[in-house]
Amino acid sequence: MDHDDIERLAAELHKKGSSWSPFQVAASTSLVLYFAWAGSLALGLRKVYLQVPYVPSSVKQVRNMMSLLQGRSGKLVDLGSGDGRIVLEAYKQGFRPTVGYELNPWLLQLSNFRAWRAGCYGKVFFRREDLWKADLSDCNNVTVFLAPSLVPLLERKLLSELPDGACVVAARFPFLNWSPTSIAGDSLETAWAYNITAVRQAGRQMPS
Ligand SMILES: C[S@@+](CC[C@H](N)C(=O)[O-])C[C@H]1O[C@@H](n2cnc3c(N)ncnc32)[C@H](O)[C@@H]1O
Ligand SMILES: *[C@@H]1O[C@H](CO)[C@@H](O)[C@H](O)[C@H]1NC(C)=O
Repeated sequence: MDHDDIERLAAELHKKGSSWSPFQVAASTSLVLYFAWAGSLALGLRKVYLQVPYVPSSVKQVRNMMSLLQGRSGKLVDLGSGDGRIVLEAYKQGFRPTVGYELNPWLLQLSNFRAWRAGCYGKVFFRREDLWKADLSDCNNVTVFLAPSLVPLLERKLLSELPDGACVVAARFPFLNWSPTSIAGDSLETAWAYNITAVRQAGRQMPS
């Protein structure tokens, strides 16, 4: 390939490059978008942002969850804390410390803002941590409101990590293999409370 050949090739390529049809442009753009999407799946973001939509609890739902925790105190953890409303309400009810796990940075900012407005900034904690990696071995009171597809995974994690005596309150999506100790509210705002000790005993009597 001599110099002339290269110049001819360059001219050829240049002609081709300038004559891309709108279809080709669209095709290559969607290819880029596709790879960006595939990349986000590889990073596990799908689990966080697609599988669990951010749906804040209603006022009634928060009240139902809190009524099931009445009389308890100590540490409370909200798994997937959203804008922090459960954590703030639990703090007002006397739980210390109160901790929310959340991965969405915007929701974390909002949570801290809401805490500041409520006068408890620095007293409630929002952690930018994956709830699946959180160590729950010292949590006695846990609230969750995630998605039905995660219930089996969550059952396994809670059963293996929570200390005896812990109470789990689930909103909207009950744990299918556990029997609740009490239930509050109805329809979409239902909350279920589980006594982890009782759940473990039932599991030992009837291994699945
Ligand atoms: C249905 S919302 C509930 C929000 C809040 N607990 C409430 O009741 O208002 C679930 C939240 O869990 C968060 N989330 C989902 N997967 C998570 C993970 N692996 N680690 C931490 N947070 C997660 C989502 O970003 C979302 O904000
Ligand atoms: C939880 O269940 C255990 C075993 O059935 C029981 O001894 C304990 O009192 C229960 N705790 C609460 C708070 O209901």
